[in-house]
Amino acid sequence: MKHLLSAADLDRGQAISLLDLAEDMSDVNDREVKKLPTLRGKTVVNLFFEDSTRTRISFELAAKRLSADVINFAAKGSSVSKGESLKDTAQTLEAMGADAIVLRHSSSGSAYRLAHTDWVKSAIVNAGDGSHEHPTQALLDAMTIRQGVSNNPRGKDLSGLRILIVGDISHSRVARSNIILLSTLGAEVHVCGPTTLVPSSLIEAERLHFLLDDAIRSVNPDVVMMLRVQQERMNASFFPTEREYARIWGLNKSRLARLDDKTLILHPGPMNRGLEIDAASADSKNSQVLNQVKNGVSVRMAVLFTLLSGGPS
Ligand code: CP
Repeated sequence: MKHLLSAADLDRGQAISLLDLAEDMSDVNDREVKKLPTLRGKTVVNLFFEDSTRTRISFELAAKRLSADVINFAAKGSSVSKGESLKDTAQTLEAMGADAIVLRHSSSGSAYRLAHTDWVKSAIVNAGDGSHEHPTQALLDAMTIRQGVSNNPRGKDLSGLRILIVGDISHSRVARSNIILLSTLGAEVHVCGPTTLVPSSLIEAERLHFLLDDAIRSVNPDVVMMLRVQQERMNASFFPTEREYARIWGLNKSRLARLDDKTLILHPGPMNRGLEIDAASADSKNSQVLNQVKNGVSVRMAVLFTLLSGGPS
């Protein structure tokens, strides 16, 4: 594997290898000395044209824990404000010795553009491109679900697991990558959201629900993944009011009480508390939000290791 651009780049075997490797990396992260020499001499560039807390910091930590050098680039405060293009910015950073470029950009397809032109030779990791994909988020979500269900008879196998993804599906690269990866891993993936926030490609899908109460009742999910309402990508009013959204599609105390005791609650962050998820749900024992963040470091170590050392996959 040269790049990781989409969850669709991974077949079931490759996805499982990466998740198993992430578990090994997690053991390293639990040690007192959280460091491997594996990527000594390699340079990872975090090229972030959009804001990020979790993804940028966990890629930085992942690269450092594998002993790579790390350059963090944020468009704010850079020569991008003087009009420098993605191509020139990437080539400038590669000229300084980058082996891998981790790209976050507001344009869908930007990671493909960087990977499939002769602009740069580095390995490209898509860290979120517009509303398109966020494959390492899907991997860390799958890792969290595997750990969360590991007490079940199914063990780490996600086959047949009922996963309900709720909210702003249209704008969500997290939803897109998760639908692909979790389906590859054999899960039964359902989506739920307002008609205005469901992409036309899914509008006739069998596992589509429009009301959260109906979805909880009919799916009886093992996992509920709440999505952030992405106001920054909305150029129109997609629902009447925030209060209305929270009332119909928000996860709250009363809906939490109707879920199975073991149902896992995921959210990629950052959370709009009180909109798509209330504090009782976000801070409940079912919540996996901080486990997702923790697993993000291990998954990104596994991805960088695989791309830069010619590891498994
Ligand atoms: N989940 C996620 O991508 O979060 P950040 O935007 O903080 O990186």
